[in-house]
Amino acid sequence: MGSKTDIAGVGAHAGQSVTIGCWLTRRRSSGKIQFLQLRDGTGFIQGVLVKGEAPEDVWEAAGKLTQESSLYVTGVVREEPRSPSGYEIAVTGIEIIQIAKDYPITPKEHGVDFLMDHRHLWLRAPRQRAILRIRAEIISAIQRFFDERGFTLVDPPILTPSAAEGTTNLFHTKYFDEDAYLTQSGQLYMEAAAMALGKVYSFGPTFRAEKSKTRRHLIEFWMVEPEMAFVDHEENLRVQEQFVSYVVGQVLERCRPELATLERDVSALERVKPPFPRISYDEAIDLLKEAGMELPWGEDFGAPHETAIAEKFDRPVFITRYPTAIKAFYMKPDPQRPEVVLCADLIAPEGYGEIIGGSQRIDDPELLEARFDEHRLPREAYEWYLDLRKYGSVPHSGFGLGLERTVAWICGLDHVRETIPFPRMLYRLYP
Ligand code: 4AD
Ligand code: MG
Repeated sequence: MGSKTDIAGVGAHAGQSVTIGCWLTRRRSSGKIQFLQLRDGTGFIQGVLVKGEAPEDVWEAAGKLTQESSLYVTGVVREEPRSPSGYEIAVTGIEIIQIAKDYPITPKEHGVDFLMDHRHLWLRAPRQRAILRIRAEIISAIQRFFDERGFTLVDPPILTPSAAEGTTNLFHTKYFDEDAYLTQSGQLYMEAAAMALGKVYSFGPTFRAEKSKTRRHLIEFWMVEPEMAFVDHEENLRVQEQFVSYVVGQVLERCRPELATLERDVSALERVKPPFPRISYDEAIDLLKEAGMELPWGEDFGAPHETAIAEKFDRPVFITRYPTAIKAFYMKPDPQRPEVVLCADLIAPEGYGEIIGGSQRIDDPELLEARFDEHRLPREAYEWYLDLRKYGSVPHSGFGLGLERTVAWICGLDHVRETIPFPRMLYRLYP
């Protein structure tokens, strides 16, 4: 046994004997020499055995290793400039933990359905590992951004009695004798929290029973939702552009090897710096018309429209002031022009679509009550939310960033299904 380490840490042991718990991803042999491609989750390294130099029993054990067999490998760490890690291992000992038989994911190409059925194993692929590493980095950058700027993390409930984002895609469940829904957004609760703590954010799973089978929709996805008292629409946008630029910058700083594994064009990410362009819904309609995608005023944008708009800009773009009629009940109308609301969607570059939805909130109790009726929302269920406008109502704003769409964009993935360990999609609950 050498001293126990992991692949990420071998550099500290150059010239020494180490032992690493690992899996075999691939074995190649030329008869005189065996190359073992090993992984342990922290990285990848090659083990080398030369016939006649390695002990006979170790040579034989190496020959038995199949794809995804688990083992402890012992050997001397050598510098190897041609290896991505800069090192390889001259193997002197192998302790087989288990020989894996017929690992289903082979180096040949597999269809997406097959891979999704084997998601629990697919996670071991270098590409999937890189994505999950970047996802984790994005999560920690998000928390750092808000923690360092005086926001308090607050956790809204998952089981809720009412809708936050419209009633069409609610996930229904029973709550003993009552009806309940899985949360679509923690926003309404975060508004209560902002009145208690000033600047708050939540970060957790949200659920939408969306009948859309697109590359941007998940049934269960994670959202970060900041909410800020005494902050108006314009200030809200400034927080968002600082926030998104920070997260992208942190990934560029900390995840270069993973971005390289994904062959991500980082120059597009390097341009993500504030200020982000802002165009109004009206301007977006004009821009679409010029691009040959005429749309009547009042219609919502679909994915192709968002992509056409994003193509005109080299960084994320805000589309502001959508028609009141197509947006959520809580958004504050523009006092100068009540047919539009003080809201913005942030559209990611390169066709990744909307990553943020946000707005200034209605602070007037009477207007809010009128909205409940217009949207046919049962007032009893929102009594507590109305209280927030009765007892010291203040201007306030917030937004929600979808984690998986952000991961898809930063990683350059064409579908959100790879951005979360176990995606819940329209026709997929397994594994
Ligand atoms: O635009 P949405 O619906 O906004 C809200 O839920 C607000 N209550 C947020 C707030 O102001 N606190 O959703 C916000 C973001 C979208 O921009 C998108 O990135 C993501 O959540 N999102 C989804 N991501 C994956 N799958 C889905 N089905 C999604 N629906 C929304
Ligand atoms: Mg939205």
